[in-house]
Amino acid sequence: MIGLTAVLPEQAAEGAFDVDLLFGYLTLIAVVFTTGIFLALIWFSYKYRRRPGNEGPPAPTRTVLSLEIAWTIVPLVLGLTMFFWGAKIFVASAQPPPDAIRIDIVGKQWMWKAYHANGRREINTLHVPRGRPVRLRMISEDVIHDFFVPAFRTKQDVLPGRYTGLWFEASRTGRYHLFCAEYCGTNHSKMIGEVVVMEPARFAEWLAGGPAKPPAEAGAELFEKIGCAACHGAKATQPGPRLEGVFGRKVQLRDGRTVTADSDYLRESIVDPLKKVVAGYEPNMPSYAGQLDEEQILQLLAYIESLTVPGETAPEENR
Ligand code: CUA
Repeated sequence: MIGLTAVLPEQAAEGAFDVDLLFGYLTLIAVVFTTGIFLALIWFSYKYRRRPGNEGPPAPTRTVLSLEIAWTIVPLVLGLTMFFWGAKIFVASAQPPPDAIRIDIVGKQWMWKAYHANGRREINTLHVPRGRPVRLRMISEDVIHDFFVPAFRTKQDVLPGRYTGLWFEASRTGRYHLFCAEYCGTNHSKMIGEVVVMEPARFAEWLAGGPAKPPAEAGAELFEKIGCAACHGAKATQPGPRLEGVFGRKVQLRDGRTVTADSDYLRESIVDPLKKVVAGYEPNMPSYAGQLDEEQILQLLAYIESLTVPGETAPEENR
């Protein structure tokens, strides 16, 4: 493991050590088997080489049951340890703690844009507090990108048309590389940035220190401006499903299916509203595809999420 830490990036997040330990285990197994196989190969090609008096086919082989059982059981056990160990880390990486702070990320050729909950935004830099879980809700404006912070041992594709999530808890203050890890065009190699991990108090200062309009507020204005309010608003004159308390809840559809009104469903209902129409409503909403950018859609989502029924809080999402 000592040799590995010399070539790996530093461990700056909770769980980074676990990932390295598993990686070390896989590397160890690979090295042991590769070495064993090559040594056997070299030894056998010497021992059974063709030479005078030993030209013919090898003597008939015999079956050694114990040997066959051993070379079946041992790899099986090794394979299963890899699977269960890997699955444990993978499952943990897909489940952000409920108290995680959410930051929205939009990738586009060739930059990373970050939107904090209070409206502070940044490009190619991401400020986060140390010791607090952070979850990212990510989407791409064009092609597939991939959000990769080696020091956190965390990496996730960022897709057009669908939100993906990623979470981490930075354990050390400092500045860490952020890469795009999916080839996305000419300047892919320049789609890089920095994650700045600060002490929580300094982070709070930084967060409050910039011009910011909360996304829910921007979303509320957009909601009026582009006409959503005419059908979905409090004073709506036309019928559209009411949006209070809908975020994260189950919704019954016209065709009998039930869906959860998560970020993906709400986004889809904005850009492709006739795909999953709510039960009891006519399919007559116009599509907003091409009229809104991803930031504006995130603002609308923030506004819808803020519309709670008194006494209830919106269920947390995984991203
Ligand atoms: Cu974005 Cu590579």
